[in-house]
Amino acid sequence: MDLRQLVRNFQHLRRVSGGVGILPVVKANAYGHGAAPVARALVSAGAEGFCVATLQEALDLREDGLLAPILVFGSLRPEQFPVAEANHLDLAVVSADYLRELAAWQPRAAFGLHLNLDTGMGRSGILLDDLGACLDAIHHLQGRIRGVMGHFSASDEPDLRFAGIQRRRFEGALAQLRDAGLTPPMIHHANSAGYLRGLTGGDTHARCGIALYGLSDLGESEAAGLKPILELTAEVTRAVRIPAGTTVGYGSTYVAPRPLALATLNCGYADGYPRALSNRAVVGFRGRTYPVVGKVSMDQLTVALPDTVLIRPGDRMTLLSRNPEEPHSVRNTARLLSTIPYEVTSALNRRVHHDHASSS
Ligand SMILES: Cc1ncc(COP(=O)(O)O)c(C=O)c1O
Repeated sequence: MDLRQLVRNFQHLRRVSGGVGILPVVKANAYGHGAAPVARALVSAGAEGFCVATLQEALDLREDGLLAPILVFGSLRPEQFPVAEANHLDLAVVSADYLRELAAWQPRAAFGLHLNLDTGMGRSGILLDDLGACLDAIHHLQGRIRGVMGHFSASDEPDLRFAGIQRRRFEGALAQLRDAGLTPPMIHHANSAGYLRGLTGGDTHARCGIALYGLSDLGESEAAGLKPILELTAEVTRAVRIPAGTTVGYGSTYVAPRPLALATLNCGYADGYPRALSNRAVVGFRGRTYPVVGKVSMDQLTVALPDTVLIRPGDRMTLLSRNPEEPHSVRNTARLLSTIPYEVTSALNRRVHHDHASSS
């Protein structure tokens, strides 16, 4: 992982829209990149706070020594509130019921809340129709409410009409809260795409994940100079010459059509390299790409090369390239799997970072 490029991405992002603060989203182990090193690098670059999905993700970061504010998107059970308080965590209010649970509890000072408003994402937050009925509980918690947030569902699509509708609903709800005397310091509705496409209105912050990791597919992302930071490599553990007719892997789904060099790499689906890439993906080696042959197994996969290519145990091959144009980039791998880059990187297992992820 290239932490210098991560910091450059962060700095480029900050330049896009002067004045709007960036809250890095480091949930799911920073989308598979490694939450602790990512957060450490971004703190040094001036990040003022972070977002995660679960209590445990927040506690892991505290354990690692992160002192900056951390906002937890997901819900906690009431018995977990004291742990959140003791660790100075901020909680997103995921529903009207959750708000009432929080109001019934008597938090002390070190406890922040961000009112999440469901402006059209339809999965989390207070429904706008319920906001009026929540005002009493909101007043009760007023001193603790640090932010108001929402979430775009379609800010990365060519048609931004629904994003515009969500934006207007958010502004309407903010006005309703202002009329009720609530003006929290932080206002944030945008994710990476919403931020890059200028859908921040008068917000103070934007919550950016994918753009920081350089994996947003938007033209705006390229224009802003954002680049991928993750490269996944694995080591050759066995290099052999095989005759035509040799079967490879579970189910013998690959039979060598001619004499070949066969490399076994120490990465498999338990590391997050999808089994669905069996007999479909390529890996990079010394400036060329070669096919993954046979089924990807739990800890290993196999690559076929012409028998003229010299390979040795200890050589490294690139499974996910940082160059977006290469066939084995995260973007193109996601396309091959009919999914999105988020899923490809967040599936990477933590053991990958100890053993295979190269750093530069
Ligand atoms: C509530 C919330 N905010 C922000 C983000 C960051 O989104 P992105 O990675 O598209 O910037 C996410 C990610 O899914 C999210 O769930």
